[in-house]
Amino acid sequence: MTITMSNKNEILQQKLAEAKLGGGPTRIEAQHKKGKLTARERIHFLLDDGSFEEIGALVTHRCSDFGMSEQQVLGDGVVTGYGTIHGRLVYVFAQDFTVFGGSLSETHAEKICKIMDLAVKNGAPVIGLNDSGGARIQEGVSSLGGYADIFYRNVQASGVVPQISAIMGPCAGGAVYSPAMTDFIIMVENTSYMFVTGPNVVKTVTNEDVTSEELGGAYTHATKSGVTHLVAANDVECIEKIKRLLSYIPQNNMDRVPNLSYTLGEEYRPALDSIVPENPNHPYDMKAVIAEIVDADSFFEIHEQYADNIIVGFARLAGRSIGIVANQPMSLAGVLDVNSSKKAARFVRFCDCFNIPLLVLEDVPGFLPGTDQEWNAIITNGSKLLYAFSEATVPRVTVITRKAYGGAYDVMNSKHIGADMNFAWPTAEIAVMGAKGASEIIFKKEIESAPDPQAKLAEKEREYADTFANPYRAAARGFIDEVIWPRETRRKLIRAFAMLEHKAVARPQRKHGNIPL
Ligand code: HXC
Repeated sequence: MTITMSNKNEILQQKLAEAKLGGGPTRIEAQHKKGKLTARERIHFLLDDGSFEEIGALVTHRCSDFGMSEQQVLGDGVVTGYGTIHGRLVYVFAQDFTVFGGSLSETHAEKICKIMDLAVKNGAPVIGLNDSGGARIQEGVSSLGGYADIFYRNVQASGVVPQISAIMGPCAGGAVYSPAMTDFIIMVENTSYMFVTGPNVVKTVTNEDVTSEELGGAYTHATKSGVTHLVAANDVECIEKIKRLLSYIPQNNMDRVPNLSYTLGEEYRPALDSIVPENPNHPYDMKAVIAEIVDADSFFEIHEQYADNIIVGFARLAGRSIGIVANQPMSLAGVLDVNSSKKAARFVRFCDCFNIPLLVLEDVPGFLPGTDQEWNAIITNGSKLLYAFSEATVPRVTVITRKAYGGAYDVMNSKHIGADMNFAWPTAEIAVMGAKGASEIIFKKEIESAPDPQAKLAEKEREYADTFANPYRAAARGFIDEVIWPRETRRKLIRAFAMLEHKAVARPQRKHGNIPL
């Protein structure tokens, strides 16, 4: 339509309406039939009512190959802009699968880059809702360049503003690397998948038969690879989880999470007194400890189904947002291994980037022995957690509930690597190793030459346990600041974190450290 003085408004209206329709009613219906919301519906559910301001609704691609000049869709397959969630500013992009399968063209990438740049300049989180067939095949290298422009910005924004990626459809090929470099990934069950090469290529190269879901569905990445931090049953749940996650994290690295108002009571939790079993080899659920310590229903677990011998997640303590890292005696006796070390290290680093204080609940019998662990570099991977804690300058508090053995004692936020307050329950056992293993080594000859070696071993075990299977040696050295009754843990922690609120640590200037990757 030719623009005249009289039809200016009509043309704008028409263009905006056209942009809103994306790939048209048939493709929108197909999207719904798959159980997926459209890009605009997702944004509608994500942001506060009426807060969305779109940027770039009228952008079109510049490709003329393969008849693309005749196929122009306003917005070019991605809806971008800003709005608020619970009143806090966020930037958002949502790929529109109804337009060329949400594939990424040069201009589609430019739109994403534009809002990422605004997010960094204005210090607010970026949320990406991914649903895309990957590189716009008709555009070739222009599309690849667009991806790299986004990757570069992901890295520049890392540790400056929080970045959250929802995978709500396909995400394949090199496209996976943008979400992978953001802080959190959340995948929708059954409708999303992520892989570098799909089932067909896998079949050709390795002769494996595998479905998309098995290769890179939400369950696979939540349990086997740990690529995704969260999973959701559907689009709406996914969006709700993003909102909840954001409530624990600040707008940027110079900001703090707003404290919720909270009136202090007596804060004793008597149930904690009987939570650790009499027998030190019996498990108990560390999540029950967490539930008693934090504000009611405030624990939000991350990586729940991956490496469940360690628990990580956010919570509130008297209204203050904290990150929790806790050994889980219910799984592999809470031992540290390759996956749990990587999982916890990444979480610690996120909290440290964004000024979120850290609480560590410790019951760890050591590092997991075995060829599998050694050959998968438990040395390098275990040191990631050691490194992450050692470099963290946020307030850091540890509670040793039971075992703190060997190198794992040092690693799990010990005083020696910069923790601020270290508490132990009377049930704590802080030693180089368990009493049996220790006695077998240091009293080997005495035990072998005894008339009844078993009785001698038991006697030596008791002797070693009496000396070390308690918190008092460590308390005498000042490695533990206080031995506390379990029931007063919550109260002690509320006070400790309040005391540490304005902690400031100066580090020598350097470009960056060299974490053992
Ligand atoms: C252009 C694409 C497209 C793409 C899909 N479409 N992918 N257009 N470039 N990459 C279009 C289709 O032509 C179709 O258009 C519409 O999107 C919907 O696609 P369907 O195939 O009908 O949908 P569905 O059956 O649900 O299958 C979805 C899909 C499939 C599995 C994603 O479309 C697919 O395999 N696409 C190609 C994936 C791919 O190989 N991408 C490149 C990966 S390499 P019409 O007009 O019919 O609606 C890569 C490198 C990135 O991404 C490197 C970064 C460094």
